[in-house]
Amino acid sequence: DDSFSKNDRAFSSAYDIHDGVALQFDGIGGLSGGGATSRLLVNYAEPYRSQILDYLFRPGFGASLQILKVEIGGDSQSTEGTEHSHMHDEDDEDYTRGYEWWLMKEAKARNPKIKLVGLPWGWPGWVGQGNAWPYTNQTLTAMYVTKWIRGAKEHHNLTIDYVGIWNERPYDITYIKVLRRTLDEAGFSDVTIIAADGGYMMISYDILRDAELAKAVGVIGLHYPGTLSGKITQETGKIIWSSEDYSTYNDVIGAGCWARILNQNYVNGNMTATISWNLVASYYDNLPYKRCSLMTANEPWSGHYEVSDPVWVTAHTTQFTSPGWRYLQTSGHLNSGGSYVALTDGGTALTIIIETMSHDQSVCIRPPLPEYEVQAQNATFMLGGSFKGKIKSFYMWQTQLGQSSTSDEVFVNKGEVTVDSQGQVTLFLPKDVLVTLTTVPGGLKGKYPKSPPSTSFPLPYKEGFDGSQFGEAFNFADQSGAFENFENKSSDDGHRTTLRQVVTQRPLTWCDDPNLGFTVVGDFTWSHVAVNISAKIEGTLGVFVALRVDKGGCDAREAEGLFFWLLESGVWKLTSDIGREHVIKQCYVDEKCWVSPYHRNGWNNMSLSIGKEQKIFAYLNGVLVYGQTIKGEFELPENGFVAMGTMDFGLAQFDDFSITET
Ligand code: GAL
Repeated sequence: DDSFSKNDRAFSSAYDIHDGVALQFDGIGGLSGGGATSRLLVNYAEPYRSQILDYLFRPGFGASLQILKVEIGGDSQSTEGTEHSHMHDEDDEDYTRGYEWWLMKEAKARNPKIKLVGLPWGWPGWVGQGNAWPYTNQTLTAMYVTKWIRGAKEHHNLTIDYVGIWNERPYDITYIKVLRRTLDEAGFSDVTIIAADGGYMMISYDILRDAELAKAVGVIGLHYPGTLSGKITQETGKIIWSSEDYSTYNDVIGAGCWARILNQNYVNGNMTATISWNLVASYYDNLPYKRCSLMTANEPWSGHYEVSDPVWVTAHTTQFTSPGWRYLQTSGHLNSGGSYVALTDGGTALTIIIETMSHDQSVCIRPPLPEYEVQAQNATFMLGGSFKGKIKSFYMWQTQLGQSSTSDEVFVNKGEVTVDSQGQVTLFLPKDVLVTLTTVPGGLKGKYPKSPPSTSFPLPYKEGFDGSQFGEAFNFADQSGAFENFENKSSDDGHRTTLRQVVTQRPLTWCDDPNLGFTVVGDFTWSHVAVNISAKIEGTLGVFVALRVDKGGCDAREAEGLFFWLLESGVWKLTSDIGREHVIKQCYVDEKCWVSPYHRNGWNNMSLSIGKEQKIFAYLNGVLVYGQTIKGEFELPENGFVAMGTMDFGLAQFDDFSITET
């Protein structure tokens, strides 16, 4: 196959590859969190769960990621849901919560050299000490973060390598210094601070003006930099990363975006690491930013998952380099569009990654991509310095992207190409191609048997909250507050194990979370289902169940649907929104519509359904309290998630959950 050898009609250029080294390569990573992006992953049965993890982390198999960044859960919404804090309250500390510890351990088990990064999005309310601001008491906030790092070490034997400040929110110079000191004093002087995880260059100005700050910050982390880091940032002399990037649907264009920025973040911006938001789309498709990930695994009930092209784009770099290698000075642009980066281990290993992504086939979600041209071209790479004469051939790997490409053209082993007697290799590069030339043998397009076929969320669905993994209920995706498995130690009323909403104070939010606890489950396309739940109001104003809930994520506050509320006083209501502005019906205690017995301080059963003829039924403790056909007096979404929650940030328990078709 010589389809890649010189084409006489195409423009030809030559590029020197000599051994003068430039910046150190720090790696390519994926981000779990920001937030709850891995929520459904933990529910996968084996062998699928391990297969997915292998595609992401196993060296020389798939994406072979070199960095794993995770959210430091803050009990608040951070895009696809909330992640639980290790300290819900000031005197609470628990390092068993959530799946990020597990994920980090799985990543480390596959690749002990993978670097770990932690970053907060939101914070539990108490961190603000009365203000909606994490920098009120900087020592306290620094301790909160340091405890997470210590918890990682003590409870999971995980070494956190990097920690950030506050995702895409203001930083505070004094806080950064306090964090540095706190980490040092706690024995974590090896933990490098990344600042400030935003798109802005302000941190660079501050670093240039403030020597102590400059010392405290190890890495400047930019987000969605559009491959540019700016003159000021470069003047700091700091290591620069694109510490969050990509966020593009994981089809062929997403792969094109990823291929282009992985090279050009270095070529244009001197950025030495790029981290993909997100790692794996393990959240419901109908939450925001559907499948903006390296691959998709959001059907734990079927075991179905999809290994998407961005995994193999990643492999083009990660399978043939290691963090600690150096970029060569000769990395740059190709004359007819595209770019190349060359990396070496400092010895004889050399890897050159070449991309010719065209504009329309490599647009990322943000920032806007200025127009540019790419032509098919011949490129001659001329080895110089110590490489000349030593390297006789390269292994070649190739991916053809662009609209007409097929999955057979992704990460293809093209065998060896010979370096000629002048130390040159000439390649014909069509548009939208990604090529790796490397002296590193190995490389594998890892493959497991095809995952099971995709199926819709199973019905009927029952959940007794008898415990699942990492304290959270299977398939529930918390959108506000935090729902955790709970055990009533001395209970003999049939509700020993339950699910409990545990956030009792408004967090310092990253989104504008609704003022209540709220979790969704199921299939967004459902129109006609019934939900049943038992609930115990503990410290909240009330509880609810809901159908056809049309929004989660940062828009959760705007969610519409059919909401059935039970207040602590026994009052019940039906509304068509989570904000309770659109009341369909409400019933006060002792009115004719009211039902007794209502079990104050006890368990109450609520069920809600929408039948095929659009008839709504609401039952409280088995008694029908509302049964009417929707006639246009109010509007409901056509379909949506099933949800349940609390009326404010307060404790409540849930049990005997079921969903059936009507
Ligand atoms: C980023 C944010 C992520 C996620 C992403 C979606 O700005 O840090 O958490 O929301 O946008 O594109």
